Amino acid sequence: MSETKIPHIPVLFNEVIETFKDLEDGYVIDCTLGYGGHSLGILESNPNIKLICNDQDDEALNFSKNRLKEYANRIIFSKGNFKDVINRYKDKNIVGILADIGVSSLQLDKNDRGFGFNGETLDMRMDQNQELSANEIVNEYAQNDLEKILKFNWYWVLVNEVEQPEKYWIFKVDTDENIKEIIEKPEVPIGKLANLWVYKFDSKIFEIVDNIPLSPRWEYEITDAINDFVKLFPFKAFKIEWEFIDVWYPWDILTSNAHFLNKLWKSNIKWIVEEWVTIKWNIVLEEWSVLKSWTYIEWNIYIWKWSSIWPNTYLRWNTVIWDNCKVWNAVEVKNSSIWDNTNIAHLSYVWDSIVWNNVNIGWWFITANLRHDKGNIKVPINGKYWE
Ligand SMILES: C[S@@+](CC[C@H](N)C(=O)[O-])C[C@H]1O[C@@H](n2cnc3c(N)ncnc32)[C@H](O)[C@@H]1O
Repeated sequence: MSETKIPHIPVLFNEVIETFKDLEDGYVIDCTLGYGGHSLGILESNPNIKLICNDQDDEALNFSKNRLKEYANRIIFSKGNFKDVINRYKDKNIVGILADIGVSSLQLDKNDRGFGFNGETLDMRMDQNQELSANEIVNEYAQNDLEKILKFNWYWVLVNEVEQPEKYWIFKVDTDENIKEIIEKPEVPIGKLANLWVYKFDSKIFEIVDNIPLSPRWEYEITDAINDFVKLFPFKAFKIEWEFIDVWYPWDILTSNAHFLNKLWKSNIKWIVEEWVTIKWNIVLEEWSVLKSWTYIEWNIYIWKWSSIWPNTYLRWNTVIWDNCKVWNAVEVKNSSIWDNTNIAHLSYVWDSIVWNNVNIGWWFITANLRHDKGNIKVPINGKYWE
């Protein structure tokens, strides 16, 4: 595409330039580079600042790399969803952020991108490396599920029927699934629909939370907020059809991880797998994560972003490693969930564990649910030991 065919005229161009013109130093993040109109304007009008130019669309990035090449020494190009961009560049001196959110005109106008009404294609992926397209959703999802997705325009909460409602937070609903009330562990039956704690609210809920009084137990209760919310807005209960995993104790997270990992039908490797890594079955390796040589992977594994797995480490079934973790040399991890920013030093052995955020496990450390006297492992919760 040539410079004479700029596919997108940026909105509020003058206002954007005005906003950034007096900055004296640092980086501005353009979260949605698109066809580079705003970025070009900022670079031209303020020689003091540098840009981090992000978009999730390769076509937009490639076009803008060419369009902005004169300013290449003042730009870091970044590919991905803008939700990750600040974290990725948190070590830079960031002095401004611009997000011109939406679809660009080229995405709409190019028929093969499948956004517009003019072509035959249905696709709608902004990041063309993503697996799921609108074509698959519209043509392969069950009608029932599509109806639910469309209804997601409402405020809603996921619910499921439980056998002992007196132990759960229960919603009372009318015949149209509108929630009338929520009661924690109701003594008098009001239904069997239990809260699954997955909500779609917007900022209105915070206004309501700001105005609820402290409860007799001296807390701000979500039940009070919801009961006020339903007086003002329609709030739906969506009963899920899927298997219901009650995540009650911390170790139930391992059951739910197993549930999802068992459904990992194929690998998706988005970053670096060095030579001599063995992968048996499937792995998702998110961006900026690395599997170093001689790592051995068995069964389905999920590794989130910015994590590294060092040589000779053995990752076994049902393991999830979250963001920014380092699993050093010759470590064995099985059936565990390792949360953000955690290090596991070499020669350690982590089995059947949930390792919290920011934990630094020293070398030659063992955690497992096996006792030499064959007794059950007990964990203290609220002063009581649970097996
Ligand atoms: C309206 S255009 C931006 C136009 C740009 N300001 C310009 O001057 O040309 C929106 C861009 O945001 C990108 N985009 C939308 N949602 C995004 C997301 N969640 N993460 C990263 N980029 C996104 C689209 O790919 C598109 O290129």
